[in-house]
Amino acid sequence: MLAQIHIHQFRNINEAELFPAEGINFILGENGSGKTSLLEAIFVLAMGRSFRSRFLKNLVKYDHKHLTLFARSLDKTPIGLQYDFQNGLQIRLNNAPLKRLSDLAFHLPVQLIPANCHQYFELGPKFRRRMVDWGVFHVEHQFNYHWQSYKKVLQQRNAAIKTHKPINEITLWDKALTDHGLAITQMRERYLKQLIVHFRPFFKKLCPELADYKFSLRYLRGWNKEYELSEYLHQNLERDRALGYTRSGPHAADWSFRVNDADPYELLSRGQQKLFFLSLSMAQIMILAEQKKRENTLLLIDDLSSELDWHHQRTVLNTLRELPVQSFISSTNTELEALISGKNEKRFHVEHGVISEAGNDAINTTPDVVE
Ligand SMILES: Nc1ncnc2c1ncn2[C@@H]1O[C@H](COP(=O)(O)OP(=O)(O)O)[C@@H](O)[C@H]1O
Ligand SMILES: [Mg+2]
Repeated sequence: MLAQIHIHQFRNINEAELFPAEGINFILGENGSGKTSLLEAIFVLAMGRSFRSRFLKNLVKYDHKHLTLFARSLDKTPIGLQYDFQNGLQIRLNNAPLKRLSDLAFHLPVQLIPANCHQYFELGPKFRRRMVDWGVFHVEHQFNYHWQSYKKVLQQRNAAIKTHKPINEITLWDKALTDHGLAITQMRERYLKQLIVHFRPFFKKLCPELADYKFSLRYLRGWNKEYELSEYLHQNLERDRALGYTRSGPHAADWSFRVNDADPYELLSRGQQKLFFLSLSMAQIMILAEQKKRENTLLLIDDLSSELDWHHQRTVLNTLRELPVQSFISSTNTELEALISGKNEKRFHVEHGVISEAGNDAINTTPDVVE
């Protein structure tokens, strides 16, 4: 949970300081005003990377050479992040240089609902794995260790295959690959079982008109489940050598939801797909809160109003109010202000990169020049 956010030379935001509410924060403004940029700044603070650019240099305000972000969580832990063209990215967590990005991610769990989230069901397995692994990472302490180790071993095995090393120099890695791989697979399976259980009531609430639909989850471990992983690696060695890489294993895992035994994108409207994605995120937040007693998850919803009618937007907000989460919700629909209720909620207006808290004067210390 963030109590304070400071943004400097990030995208079209020159300078802004926000003191967000603990519950819902509405970010309202016209197209191109800087709403997604604000959500992106929060995401970068939590993850050390952006969700819409692979290169941090694109986030620096045009004609400037560096950006800085700063935040303080409710427990007062400071996070400082600076990126400049010469020295790259530097992050400080609790006044000490950050050793691993995963420490930052662990400190501040963040879930993002992008504006085009209904397209999620058409994206590749990499995106699906990323969503599940987010949850497993936060719930299972050993996951990151096994996953990082697995990736290293996989790299070594692939390098041996590629450089046509003798067979024993390739299979040398199989034991470690299997040990870490099985640990990863077990944790993912455990997590997915909980996910479907938590998902159902959320979706029923957000989309009661589909309450009768049947949901199931298919999980593919990344290799033929009739075989042990070690056995499968052994059997497919010649195939891997011909391909030039290790094809099967948890790195190739995938999972899919089925709705009445069809793909969600074949059956659900775009709005319903968005509610589906939102329910998945809410389920993940609940699992984290229940299992780890973590109540500091951030939820960023970019453009809530797209694809959703008024009634469904209101249901989403009411459901969020019951969740242990701090949310930042952007929209071009200023009528959303009518739905703001309790004292744990605030609204911010964004105009040409200038952010102001509604009811207060502009909170930017040096407003941007607007041409
Ligand atoms: N590095 C940058 N420096 C300055 N402006 C930028 C940068 N990157 C993008 N922009 C501009 O920032 C504006 C705000 O973008 P965005 O946050 O996506 O708006 P919104 O989500 O409110 O529609 C856009 O006009 C975009 O062209
Ligand atoms: Mg936007």
